[in-house]
Amino acid sequence: MSVASGTTHIFMNFLRKATPSMSQIALMDCAPRSSDFRHDLLAGLSQSPKTLPCKYLYDERGSQLFELICELEEYYPTRAEISILQNYGAEIADALGSDCAVIEYGSGSGLKTEILLEHLHAPNVYFPVDISREHLCSSAAALEEKCPDIDIVPVCADFTRDFELPDSLVNGSRRAAYFSGSTIGNFEVGESIEILQGMARLCGRDGCLLIGVDLQKDPAVLEAAYDDSEGVTRQFNQNLLHRANAELDADFDVEQFQHRAIYNPQHARIEMHLESSCDQQVTVAGQKINFAAGETIHTENSHKHTLESFANIAARAGWQVKTVWTDDRQYFSVQYLTVTT
Ligand code: AVJ
Repeated sequence: MSVASGTTHIFMNFLRKATPSMSQIALMDCAPRSSDFRHDLLAGLSQSPKTLPCKYLYDERGSQLFELICELEEYYPTRAEISILQNYGAEIADALGSDCAVIEYGSGSGLKTEILLEHLHAPNVYFPVDISREHLCSSAAALEEKCPDIDIVPVCADFTRDFELPDSLVNGSRRAAYFSGSTIGNFEVGESIEILQGMARLCGRDGCLLIGVDLQKDPAVLEAAYDDSEGVTRQFNQNLLHRANAELDADFDVEQFQHRAIYNPQHARIEMHLESSCDQQVTVAGQKINFAAGETIHTENSHKHTLESFANIAARAGWQVKTVWTDDRQYFSVQYLTVTT
């Protein structure tokens, strides 16, 4: 089946996994075609400046590396968000109410999910939505061991595009979108509004959203968080090139591309780049791409918000911020919103 780029992916295969530990877990597969990586990489490399959508950082290896990043001393967001969930779990549970269907966008490490689900009042069903199929299945299986009382239905999808959940599984429950880790920061204002609008559509009139939003702070703290002393973030960034070499028959000399993490105050964001160390030519899927020394591929943005800037974006997407919880240092926020439209 071929679908023009940009259209909704509606083909869903219900797969029953053969591995014993996952025997109860059916995967809803709405994953993008693999040729999207080839198309997007070639398109991004022919632009000036060169760029690539950051979702391609999260293949299986990339997702593993990101989990290692979350444990780094310098990377504060995960620990700050977990402390908020632990300190305010009861208030969060009261806000979401009982018997909700939790739809998690970008099912992260599972630890945050576990803390949230433990606090919630009898959640009905949990849908982790992620682009990385392997990561999705293994984290869903691990979560099922820890939370055997809740139905877990993994959905393999690109959540920057619309996808559906079967009504029969949601079963009339209140839909609660959960978007942790400040993943919203990856997107520009316009894209953020589109994603939040998509969540409002999926959650409906009575829907709600629990979202982690990273806050503006000293740029030195930010740059250390995205350029750690152990070089894990460097490997995470360079993994994109390994991935292109493996999947697209590219010949990137990975050591000739340096990891850069720079705070851009004008856009209030950390930018990750891969910077070419020399003049070089690379072949990607049969096409020759030239790099000048110092030229970069812009691989990720991580926008940092103020409470005002985020409330404004949310309002434009049909959401109203109801409650904001923060950590001791006010580095990070977890926010509860309801649908206004
Ligand atoms: C997964 C998007 C939340 O922006 O902090 C971490 C990704 N990149 N270190 C972030 C990331 C480099 C992370 N998010």
